[in-house]
Amino acid sequence: MKKLIDLITEVTEQGFADCGYEKNLGKVTLSNRPDLCEYQCNGAMAGAKIYKKAPIAIAQDVVANLSGKKIFEEVTAVTPGFINMKISGNYLVEYLEAMDDDEKLGVCPEEKPETIVIDYGGPNVAKPLHVGHLRSAIIGESMKRLSRFLGHTVIGDVHLGDWGLQMGLIIEELKERESELPYFDEAYAGDYPEEAPFTIGELEEIYPAASAKSKVDEAFAKKAHDATFKLQNGNRGYLALWNHILNVSVRDLKKNYEKLNVTFDIWKKESDAGPYIPDMVERMKAEGFAHESQGALVVDVAEETDVKEIPPCILLKSDGATLYSTTDLATLVEREKLFSPDRILYVVDKRQSLHFIQVFRCAKKTGIVRPEVKLDFLGFGTMNGKDGKPFKTREGGIMRLEYLIREISDAVYEKIMENRSMEESDAKEAARKIGLAALKYGDLSNQAAKDYVFDVDRFISFEGDTGPYILYTIVRIKSIQAKYETLTDQEKGAGRLLPAISESEKALQLQTSRVQDALLSAFVEQAPHKICQYIYELSNAFNRFYHETKIMTEEDKERQTSYIRLVGLVRRVLETCTDLLGFEAPDRM
Ligand code: ARG
Repeated sequence: MKKLIDLITEVTEQGFADCGYEKNLGKVTLSNRPDLCEYQCNGAMAGAKIYKKAPIAIAQDVVANLSGKKIFEEVTAVTPGFINMKISGNYLVEYLEAMDDDEKLGVCPEEKPETIVIDYGGPNVAKPLHVGHLRSAIIGESMKRLSRFLGHTVIGDVHLGDWGLQMGLIIEELKERESELPYFDEAYAGDYPEEAPFTIGELEEIYPAASAKSKVDEAFAKKAHDATFKLQNGNRGYLALWNHILNVSVRDLKKNYEKLNVTFDIWKKESDAGPYIPDMVERMKAEGFAHESQGALVVDVAEETDVKEIPPCILLKSDGATLYSTTDLATLVEREKLFSPDRILYVVDKRQSLHFIQVFRCAKKTGIVRPEVKLDFLGFGTMNGKDGKPFKTREGGIMRLEYLIREISDAVYEKIMENRSMEESDAKEAARKIGLAALKYGDLSNQAAKDYVFDVDRFISFEGDTGPYILYTIVRIKSIQAKYETLTDQEKGAGRLLPAISESEKALQLQTSRVQDALLSAFVEQAPHKICQYIYELSNAFNRFYHETKIMTEEDKERQTSYIRLVGLVRRVLETCTDLLGFEAPDRM
């Protein structure tokens, strides 16, 4: 369906044209004086200069032409030359009826659907999933759902970090602890055990220990480095260990992402890019893109218009080791080969933005990706504690994601049990859903690039711009619907949507009609917070309507059923949006 605002613009443009003015003066915007009108057009002001005529005269001409068009209830010209508009109640409910009849709420599939790879999550194998990875998972998941809803073909890739120094650190630490394991015996030619020699708990202890050791023990650091190199060059025993690390980690990661309601279409990893590296490097050398600089192999990516220095992109270190940029470039080679995408969206901490500038430029310059491929970086800010510093546990350590989720659901659980009597298991389930919504909405409602403060008390509040407030609104609608369902058929009206009879009802209808606008701008601007903004305003409009309207005691049955239809549509819109954000409402709360 066309957006309502575009339909109004079409009619208004025709009005300008009919009066002999330029058609494109008829652009309509949302009213910035909602107390006076719903939509407005400022074209007469611009027209005044072109036609050397008083703006109010132009506005009056056009208004005379527009009055009587069925889309408007009222069009007025006001000084100095604004055209103020109110939409016809009938027209609006017809529009809403059509939305309600469509399973996608009238949201049009994209005319030119793209194939989009979304690179998000980005956890590192063997390191616990921590809050640093939380934002990527939450924002990426929502961009994935939104893009898919709009008709794009989307491939969500977790892009596991499994190929870096952390692997060498773990291997070396294991070797020091259990040197008798066959993985470290160069002469061993048999099969390696199927069971991993560690549990996830042990693995999570080994990595930080090794990492700390490498900072004080130079010899150990060097050995870990060598182990990484050996692994990347195919050492049999190390590869077998790496496989164990990978399997144990991935099992744990999947469990955690499931709790977050985050799923990936593919579980590719940095190491999958490995096989593409030799050819890629050779080609860059042969075609003259790569050259040596201080022993390393680099590609220059600086551009004349740069205002700050962009250092060269490093392909290989002096000892031949590959880097983060090398795997990211080779991953692009692979993505071109497997998916030939129109767009690749990276949802990564904004502190990595320089890395991505280098990688994107290098990929374009050397022809790894076709010139028309869009490489987008959605960089997000840090989640801080109340002290304004990156969020830590009370003890000052890195907060594990699962503890964070538990903390927030526990807080919600207590709150539910304080005021209401709910079965314990129902309350637990509700707390899980509300907690997740609190966490995700707390994140997604901020502009991604901004840092924000993780504040449990604020996030779980049932009032204000929070996830629980949105869910509360949905639950309220569910309970109205349940009450209405207890009526007999004779007590129910025909079910047609009637034009609004109160200002709050009209405002609710208008806000409901704008879901497509919100979703499209969230997609184009890669800004899920636009969806949050929209549903927050929609919830406010609903709650105002709810407080001013007697729904269940309404005596006019036709009117009552119309209310029920309207709130049912509002619920669908809210639920569609929360689903795109990656959470859902419980039945009660
Ligand atoms: N594993 C990386 C990290 O923890 C994030 C990966 C982001 N994606 C990428 N293609 N580089 O910082």
